[in-house]
Amino acid sequence: MLNKKEKAIKAINWNKIDNNFVKLFWDQNIRQFWVDEEISLVEDRKHWDKLTKEQKDTYEKILAGLTLLDTEQGGVGMPLILDKIEDLHVKAVFAFMGAMEQMHAKSYSTIFSTFSSSEKISELFDWVEKNKYLQYKVKKIDKYYRKINNEEELYFALITSVLLETFLFYSGFFYPLWFSGQGKLVGSGEIINLIIRDESVHGTFVGLIAQNIFKKFDQETKEKLRKKVYDLMLDLYQNEFEYTKELYDKVNLTDDVIKFIQYNADKALMNFGFDPYFNIEDKDINPIILNGLDTETKTHDFFSTKGNGYIKPIIHEELSDEDFEDF
Ligand SMILES: [Fe+2]
Ligand SMILES: [Fe+2]
Repeated sequence: MLNKKEKAIKAINWNKIDNNFVKLFWDQNIRQFWVDEEISLVEDRKHWDKLTKEQKDTYEKILAGLTLLDTEQGGVGMPLILDKIEDLHVKAVFAFMGAMEQMHAKSYSTIFSTFSSSEKISELFDWVEKNKYLQYKVKKIDKYYRKINNEEELYFALITSVLLETFLFYSGFFYPLWFSGQGKLVGSGEIINLIIRDESVHGTFVGLIAQNIFKKFDQETKEKLRKKVYDLMLDLYQNEFEYTKELYDKVNLTDDVIKFIQYNADKALMNFGFDPYFNIEDKDINPIILNGLDTETKTHDFFSTKGNGYIKPIIHEELSDEDFEDF
C-alpha cells in the first residue's frame, strides 16, 4: 500500500486537459512532423560543386555549429526543463519538441553526407569543440538548463531556451537561406525552412510558458529578472557578433547577418513579452533572405500543404484567457 504521505505518480489523461492552448500546440507540433530523409538533395550536389572554397567552408561550419546547438537542445535543454514542469500535457509537448531537436541535429548530417568527405566531416566536428564562440554560447546555455531548483531558475531556463531557438540559431540559418533565396542549394534550404518552422512554434510555446510563470512574480522580482534577461541577451549577442565576423567576413556577408540576428533577438524578446531591443523591421532584412524563407515559391509537394510558419502566423485561433490558465 502507498504511504499516505507519499505522492502518487499520475498518468496523463488526454480526455481531461486543463489548458486548451497546450493541446493547440501539441496538435501544431504533430502536424509539422517531418523526416530529413524525405528531402531530396540530389540537385544541391550540382550547385555545391560550383561554390568557392570560402563559401563551402562557411556553409559547412555553420551547419556544424547548428548541429551543436540542436544536440544541446534535444539532449539537455528539453529533457531537463520538462523534468521540472509539473503539467503532464506541457511535459508531453516538450518531449515531442525534444525529439524534433534530434531530427534537426540529424538533418545536418544528412546534408554533410551529400556535400562533404568523411575526413572533412570529422574535421568539422573537431572544429565545433575548439571554436571558442560556439563553446561559449553552448556552455552558457547549458549552465541555465542544469540549474533549475526553483521557479526563478525554471523561468530563466525557459528564457534561455527561447533565446537559443529564436535568436542564436539564426547566424547559422542565414547562409542556407541566402543560397536558397537565389534558387541554389534549395533542398538544404528546404530542410532549414522546416527547422525554422519548428523553432518558430517551439519559441512561441516556451515563451508562453515563461510568461505564465513571470506574471506570478512580485514587481521587484520581475524587474530583477527583466534586467537579467536583457543582460544575458546582450552578452550572447556580443558573442554572436564575433562568431558572425569569423564565419562571414570571408564571404562578405557579415553586415547582413548581424541585421538578421538582431531581428531575431527582437523576436525572442517578444516571445516572452518584452519590448524589442534592436527594432529591426522586415524591410531591413536582405530580401534574398526573406525570399529564402518563402516555401510557397518552391515545389516540394510533400510539404507544400504544411506551409512555412516563420513569417506567416502559425496559430490562427486567438488565445483567450480561458485557454491560458495557470498550471
Ligand atoms: Fe532545433
Ligand atoms: Fe526547438
